[in-house]
Amino acid sequence: MTATPEWAALVTHHDAVAPLHLRELFADDPGRVEALTATGADLTLDHSKHRITRETLPLLVALARRARLPERIEAMFRGDHINTSEDRAVLHTALRLPRDATLVVDGQDVVADVHAVLDRMGEFSDRVRSGEWTGHTGQRIRTVVNIGIGGSDLGPVMAYEALRAYSDRELTFRFVSNIDPADLAETLRDLDPATTLFIVASKTFTTLETLTNARNARQWLLDGLGGDQKAVAKHFVAVSTNAEKVRGFGIDEANMFGFWDWVGGRYSLPSAIGLSVMVAIGKERFREMLDGMHAMDVHFRTTPLERNLPVIAGLLGIWYDDFFGAETHAVLPYAQYLHRLPAYLQQLTMESNGKSVREDGTPVATDTGEIYWGEPGTNGQHAFYQLLHQGTRLVPCDFIGFAEPIDVLPGEGDADMHDLFAANLFAQTAALAFGKTAAEISAEGTPSHLVPHKVMPGNRPSSTILAPKLTPSTFGQIIAFYEHVTFVEGTIWGIDSFDQWGVELGKVLAQQLVPVLSGDEPDVSGLDASTAALVRRYRQLRGR
Ligand code: F6P
Repeated sequence: MTATPEWAALVTHHDAVAPLHLRELFADDPGRVEALTATGADLTLDHSKHRITRETLPLLVALARRARLPERIEAMFRGDHINTSEDRAVLHTALRLPRDATLVVDGQDVVADVHAVLDRMGEFSDRVRSGEWTGHTGQRIRTVVNIGIGGSDLGPVMAYEALRAYSDRELTFRFVSNIDPADLAETLRDLDPATTLFIVASKTFTTLETLTNARNARQWLLDGLGGDQKAVAKHFVAVSTNAEKVRGFGIDEANMFGFWDWVGGRYSLPSAIGLSVMVAIGKERFREMLDGMHAMDVHFRTTPLERNLPVIAGLLGIWYDDFFGAETHAVLPYAQYLHRLPAYLQQLTMESNGKSVREDGTPVATDTGEIYWGEPGTNGQHAFYQLLHQGTRLVPCDFIGFAEPIDVLPGEGDADMHDLFAANLFAQTAALAFGKTAAEISAEGTPSHLVPHKVMPGNRPSSTILAPKLTPSTFGQIIAFYEHVTFVEGTIWGIDSFDQWGVELGKVLAQQLVPVLSGDEPDVSGLDASTAALVRRYRQLRGR
């Protein structure tokens, strides 16, 4: 892409735009906000506070066309094998198609398959929620523990937290992911095996962390219920693409919810991997989430690139990453319920686009993979916003806000509290964009030696994504929005956003090290000098 005329045009354009301040850009163009605000489904994306002129997006869109983005979008939705290194279709969008849609891929009607699993999930969720599904001793389930990691954990836990206001408060939900024994121990310490249900979520059902936690959970259950193996069927269900391994673990296939190799782990929330979320909020609200995702899918597939929310946001990511040299991208939800969104987006974007070779194996010519990070407002304001406002780095930010509150508290009046919250969001984006000049600060009578400390340079870019209210539907729209942003960026970079070969080596090495750490394999001579020394020290500290 860097050798194309479209890229060259953007380099020239960047030279012209980089010196401009957002103060000037707003002053010079009264119609700017209207021109640089787009809507899709229930979301509004204000991108006027970006370091762009009205020429920038058309130039970026020309680059997207050069990268054949429209054709790639169609190829993804159609089910072409665009995950080339694994030779797989990429069809998370099929997971949220309505029941009456049809999509035949590799000779199979995937919509029928998807809805068959959704129906089974719905029946199961109803039984757990109503108390009809009982444990081994006949008691109803009170706690659901999802055991998974990566996409089999981050999606469910993030979505559960996001939508917990809609959840059945009679049930408790917990999520175990880390192979650190502390995670499982802390999760189980106050639970009653008789009323606990485990969902073992693993696409491959071979993941060390998940299977180790699941085996330990099964032992805890059997110890607590007198050792009767029949208890497992009442307290363990599985979500996986690998029926054989599930059977091998001892979970009845009747208690397994399947999905398909065309669902990537980090895109699997709308598949059976979302089972814990469905049990929490019920099948109808889960459907609302899927419908919200579908609404964003339709927007992405059918809206002209210039007004297409994920396209605009993805191209802005390219603009800052590759032309301004930005290193990171902050995501700042003004919703406490979205407190796990940044962690979820880290896997979505960084496992997808953290690649240094293109699809054909040749090295990329630019930086790829934005580094996502963030915390909910207003907590972040009292932690790292100082750097955003006055630091030396350029950090493009996404502010996510909602007009209506979910929770209404007695006393002060919740509308006021929510207004205060939203006021902080709008104030931050304005302060970042426009700052405060030395002249303005001096005019307030500030002593001259303090003026440089108080100058707010401004010109710090942000998007504001505004939705009416955090509901399953708008939540689904936001998740699908970021999935497609990731796809747009990967397409421009020419990489395979759907494989993750880079996580394999560490897994293999860890397996090799286990007998060395335990002392079963005393010889450390095959290890590099640093690792060998650390292993020796570790063994010494553990008395081995
Ligand atoms: O860490 C790599 C990875 O394969 C992720 O892509 C995936 O979400 C996670 O491991 C868990 O995998 P599984 O669902 O197969 O247990």
